[in-house]
Amino acid sequence: MTGDTQRIQPFAAPKGVPDYLPPDSATFVAVRDGLTAAARAAGYGHIELPIFEDTALFARGVGESTDVVSKEMYTFADKGDRSVTLRPEGTAGVMRAVIEHSLDRGALPVKVSYSGPFFRYERPQAGRYRQLQQVGVEAIGVDDPALDAEVIAVADRGFRSVGLTGFRLELTSLGDETCRPQYRELLQDFLFGLDLDEDTRRRAEINPLRVLDDKRPHVREMTADAPLMMDHLSESARVHFDTVRAHLDAMGVPYVVNPRMVRGLDYYTKTTFEFVHDGLGAQSGIGGGGRYDGLMAQLGGQPLSGIGFGLGVDRTVLALAAEGVTPASTARCEVYGVPMGPEAKLRLAVIAQELRAAGVRVDLAYGDRGMKGAMKGADRSGARLALVLGDRDLEAGEIGLKDLATGEQSSIPLSEATARVRATLSPVS
Ligand code: HAM
Repeated sequence: MTGDTQRIQPFAAPKGVPDYLPPDSATFVAVRDGLTAAARAAGYGHIELPIFEDTALFARGVGESTDVVSKEMYTFADKGDRSVTLRPEGTAGVMRAVIEHSLDRGALPVKVSYSGPFFRYERPQAGRYRQLQQVGVEAIGVDDPALDAEVIAVADRGFRSVGLTGFRLELTSLGDETCRPQYRELLQDFLFGLDLDEDTRRRAEINPLRVLDDKRPHVREMTADAPLMMDHLSESARVHFDTVRAHLDAMGVPYVVNPRMVRGLDYYTKTTFEFVHDGLGAQSGIGGGGRYDGLMAQLGGQPLSGIGFGLGVDRTVLALAAEGVTPASTARCEVYGVPMGPEAKLRLAVIAQELRAAGVRVDLAYGDRGMKGAMKGADRSGARLALVLGDRDLEAGEIGLKDLATGEQSSIPLSEATARVRATLSPVS
């Protein structure tokens, strides 16, 4: 068995599934946490839900005619022969949990937020992944336009809090059960009068709104004069929409009305919105959401309303890069310890422990690579300060403190190392 060891092919991540690696993952975490903090600041409590659910939940909740359900679901039979699906989005699962645990019998609205991976079998490209990350919120049980405005304002604040500015908010109303059916007929009458190919005609029969989202120039041209939901809203849907706008205006949340907006999920009613960033190419939607007043009843719960959003963490990271904004320090640590010799190593390990307990991020050189190698490690770590400790320093009761940006170095008493490092990192003003 000598000499014939076969080289094992290294594995690669599944197609379209990103890895998040340091140092860039610091930006990912900053975005996810920043968006989540905006939700926390408005009273949304954390909800952690299963990554997979009963397939029928998504079929019924998201809609059989959507691409998400008909083409993009990761569906498989488990060992008990149940059909389960990796969650393609978060809203259906939240509704399932709210109904199952009777949260809707308590104080309303139920306000929850979540973050994590979702799965869609799409054609991978820049900004479009098969495993994508969202931060989402849902506010369930109160049909109040002020709540719509709050949800939208939370998303707007979230994006701005991580440093994003070059996006726009598009807003529309998809009507309610009193005006949507008539509008649907009106739109279908219009579409059936056009010279549409068979596929598009079928789409017009199942979900005519989706034809307005057709990107092909000749279809765009033909549908340029199509009737729009916004011009056929019921009185109450109109008042609802106007009130949302008044709240957004008062809160200083900028938006444009886009009456031709079409969302990829079927559950939306009334207020519907999308955050769009032009620095991303084709995948310009960095977040979206809206009302879904019929969803809970459709999933077997009470007829309660709901509104929420899903913000794309991956696309927000790309949008920040397009704007040249770095929301977080990518430095692994603030202080890097360089021990020379076993005793110094022990002493620095203790200092590191003290500093970490005080909230300072500290890393040490391991493996006894010598001073040059260790200092290279210090530079690479992105730390601001290095603590250098050798045998002679130990004898003298001192330790070297080096500013890695300026190269300035001084000797300080070993017993004061922790206090001096903390004072240097956050000087009292
Ligand atoms: P969605 O518009 O399908 O809505 O997704 C929300 C966001 O997730 C998108 O705006 C986009 O930024 C990101 N996203 C979607 N697909 C991908 C992908 N393949 N790769 C990278 N990013 C992606 C929803 O999922 C709804 N559940 C939002 C919602 C909550 N509506 C009401 N409540």
